[in-house]
Amino acid sequence: MHCENITLVMEDLFSKTDLTMDNIDAIAVTYAPGLLGSLLIGVEFAKTLSFVYNKPLIKVNHLAGHIYANNLEEKLEYPLLALVVSGGHTELILMEDDYKFNVLGATLDDAIGEVYDKVAKVLNLPYPGGPNIEKYAEQGKPNYELPRSVLNKELNFSFSGLKSAVINLVHNERQRGSEINKYDLAASFQEVAIEQLIRKTKEAILKTGSKRLIIAGGVSANKYLRKEMEKLANEYNVNLSIPKMRYCTDNATMIAAAAYPLYLKKEFATYDLNPISTDKLFTIQ
Ligand code: KG4
Ligand code: ZN
Repeated sequence: MHCENITLVMEDLFSKTDLTMDNIDAIAVTYAPGLLGSLLIGVEFAKTLSFVYNKPLIKVNHLAGHIYANNLEEKLEYPLLALVVSGGHTELILMEDDYKFNVLGATLDDAIGEVYDKVAKVLNLPYPGGPNIEKYAEQGKPNYELPRSVLNKELNFSFSGLKSAVINLVHNERQRGSEINKYDLAASFQEVAIEQLIRKTKEAILKTGSKRLIIAGGVSANKYLRKEMEKLANEYNVNLSIPKMRYCTDNATMIAAAAYPLYLKKEFATYDLNPISTDKLFTIQ
């Protein structure tokens, strides 16, 4: 699909905007982490554009993209604490400066977005599950008892116990011939899942004394999460930034935003750039 669409997307860009190749200063591309096939198409396409039009090439880490989505409206100030919550990641990161990522904690098992998607699947809701679970949760009450994991002061996360509890509950009810109340279960799941994010972020604020907090990644589009984070930020007098809804889930603008500090420092990639699927992300810049 990347192969089929990438040139069409470029054509669309030039036909729907005033942009021409002359207005473009550099070509930024996501090179890690992710599925190799899609990354490879992007990287080769970007290298070709860079070579043909003689524009510098900039390699961007996908997660740096999510983080720098917060730089689109207001310039990031450091040090700051970043909570990255997406389909593949759940991480608390201390940033001392541009591109200085110090991972304080991460999920020990599933990422939060992945668990939203799996819970949606067992409830027969379409992919991506996050927005659907959110809609169902808005109409339900959190009256199912679900386990709250990792009740220590470490900054790691764990969501697999919660995921298994939801899946087992649904299966057990179905075996008994009764259907689960999807609205209430969605609300119960969301309450417990987000509570863990809030609790760990609070610990990180207390440990680091950080006065700035940014939220990044697809799950930051969740309205309940946004509201709870606002409460936390108010309580601890922390400056909170969450991207506009359209810049929360995967988008190209955030990749340009993350490329900008590299462009200013003239940190350009060479044509031997290759995509990397795995995710030593914050160590390979
Ligand atoms: O950042 P993203 O677009 O792609 C990755 O890099 O993974 O995040 C996608 C994830 C999916 O798991 C999706 O279910 C979740 O973000 N997501 C949400 C919401 N919107 C997207 N999760 C909870 N509530 C939402 N409103
Ligand atoms: Zn993403």
